[in-house]
Amino acid sequence: MNWEDLENAVKNCTGCDLCKGRTNVVIGRGNKNATVLFVGEGPGEQEDLEGVPFVGKAGQLFELCLDAACFDRSEIYIANVVKCRPPENRNPLDEECMACLPFLRGQFALIRPRVVVCMGLVASKTLLRHTEPMNRLRGKWENVKGTLFLTTYHPAALLRNETLKMPFYEDILSVKKVLEEIKNNIL
Ligand code: URA
Repeated sequence: MNWEDLENAVKNCTGCDLCKGRTNVVIGRGNKNATVLFVGEGPGEQEDLEGVPFVGKAGQLFELCLDAACFDRSEIYIANVVKCRPPENRNPLDEECMACLPFLRGQFALIRPRVVVCMGLVASKTLLRHTEPMNRLRGKWENVKGTLFLTTYHPAALLRNETLKMPFYEDILSVKKVLEEIKNNIL
């Protein structure tokens, strides 16, 4: 599958009921040859209107953290587990995540990132099958068949709880450090 096939398949998807409420599908943004793939949960209201991930309040806070860490945007691609907005921004159901997973897998196969950052439990559960609470998972690196996975908070959680901002930022810095190590052939 190439990008065009994947994008057309997402745009025409009726694989779960989320398709009924969408204004736009939200596929992803960033460098399609990125080293780091950030994965959120699903589009919110603004993302649904614009068809672009992480452009609402949570996205703006995420961008601020990337700026504070001087993160080079050419290193990253940003996507979600589900490509259509769940009603009232509820968490996507397991079956919705599973119905949409082939698209995220397709993006992963095309981008071939060295690092995947699961932002929130939905991404961590869907991609890594984790069921533990976030306080046990956050900040942990895992090597899955050569790809390095990190679980961290979802940026929307930082809007609700200020105390999570610093650990999230530390995780972003940890991603940057791993990226440097990859570039220097240490990893
Ligand atoms: N939350 C997400 O998980 N993804 C977005 O694109 C926006 C908010």
